[in-house]
Amino acid sequence: MGSARNNQEPSGCEAASRNATAPEPGFAPGIAPIDPAAFASAYQIDPRLPALVPGFDAPFYQAGLAGYSDAAMRIIARRQGCPLCVTEALLDRSLLDGGRGFAKADLGELDNNTPAGPEDHPLVGQIMGSSPDEMAAAAVKMVEQGRRTPKEYRLIRERGLASAPESAGEITAHERTFAAIDVNLACPVKKVSRKARGGHWLREPAGAVEILRAVRDAVPDDIPVTLKIRRGSDDTPEAESNFMRVFDAAYEVGIAWATVHGRTVEQKYVGPSNWGFLRDLVKRRPDRLIFGSGDIWNAEDIFRMLEYTGVHAVSVARGCIGNPWIFRQANNLMRGIAPKPPTIAEQREVLEHHFRLSQAVNGERKASLLMRKFGVRFSTHHPNSEDVKRRFIEVKGTDEWLAVLDEWYTTDSERAPEPAQA
Ligand SMILES: Cc1cc2nc3c(=O)[nH]c(=O)nc-3n(C[C@H](O)[C@H](O)[C@H](O)COP(=O)(O)O)c2cc1C
Repeated sequence: MGSARNNQEPSGCEAASRNATAPEPGFAPGIAPIDPAAFASAYQIDPRLPALVPGFDAPFYQAGLAGYSDAAMRIIARRQGCPLCVTEALLDRSLLDGGRGFAKADLGELDNNTPAGPEDHPLVGQIMGSSPDEMAAAAVKMVEQGRRTPKEYRLIRERGLASAPESAGEITAHERTFAAIDVNLACPVKKVSRKARGGHWLREPAGAVEILRAVRDAVPDDIPVTLKIRRGSDDTPEAESNFMRVFDAAYEVGIAWATVHGRTVEQKYVGPSNWGFLRDLVKRRPDRLIFGSGDIWNAEDIFRMLEYTGVHAVSVARGCIGNPWIFRQANNLMRGIAPKPPTIAEQREVLEHHFRLSQAVNGERKASLLMRKFGVRFSTHHPNSEDVKRRFIEVKGTDEWLAVLDEWYTTDSERAPEPAQA
């Protein structure tokens, strides 16, 4: 176990989200008559999902969330029935920066330093960067668990995979690799040294396609390569045409699915996600496997988006920070069971587990800071949410954090626990 994320260079997606708007409904004219519970109980998952990623057996997953979605948050989500998780966007450069750079990346080091250990699987590793060669080498390093020497990965970056010694050796079942590699063309953080990365590639569609092709060519055929993309750089017709160019080319080079965030890069996280755009896209490209992102705030929203837009799966992002029960509720909706909020006892159990896992992943000091921000989000489920929130904001270390649990999470509420999922 290690402090995998200490000192990690932030990918910036988190900073760019600090201007996020409060929850508001998706941009979806005519959505009112939709009955998400009825739709959920009759819903049949597209068989391509579990065929591509064994275990991906429900139409939703936990998104990459820089600064939040580390192994601790992912495991907490999985314990509530989340079938698939994505790492936060990892910079190709950090991944390639020798052993330390690789170890620093958020790879979920809970199981003997093995990314995607048994409880954190299936896991999609997301990469972001400015150069096709670096992105391809970083993707190879991820799926190989970094088992070659740094020099060999430098060679792969400079001259391609063909130039490297034949094999990185067998990956044993214990060392499970990533279930898929996701290319981030969505993060709105500013350009670095005038080089595009993340969502800024949408202004340079030819470069974006080069990255997708390079990563797809480098990753073994049996590991899907996928795409996270925004609906455009802005609202101009040129931006939409760039989007379509990258989107269509992605499938031509062999991308398995694209998750489309219905906001523009310029919008960052402000204003509604345009579900109408997603609906039109699915109609225009009926054969493509398309996932949707944006404005999923509760379990019903997952099924509202599925029905309204026709996407094949939904990415749950801000709606699951401090709310892993969204996954249990979504699974229960599919079984015809109305969602119930977590009892105080259930909240305490999850808060304790999350805290212990975070300490194992991040080390004690960083876990205390991180859990303060999670505590604030968890507090929204408490009947005295404002008081609990204030207490979480004040905490300085482990003892104080645990004292908030003793102070506020001891009496059970009257609510009956929700039935466990099948
Ligand atoms: C704090 C934060 C960090 C994020 N980091 C990532 C990331 O690393 N990778 C990614 O694909 N998306 C990232 N996103 C975008 C989300 O995955 C999602 O697309 C976006 O928040 C829209 O969904 P929502 O409106 O339901 O939150 C981030 C969003 C936030 C708020």
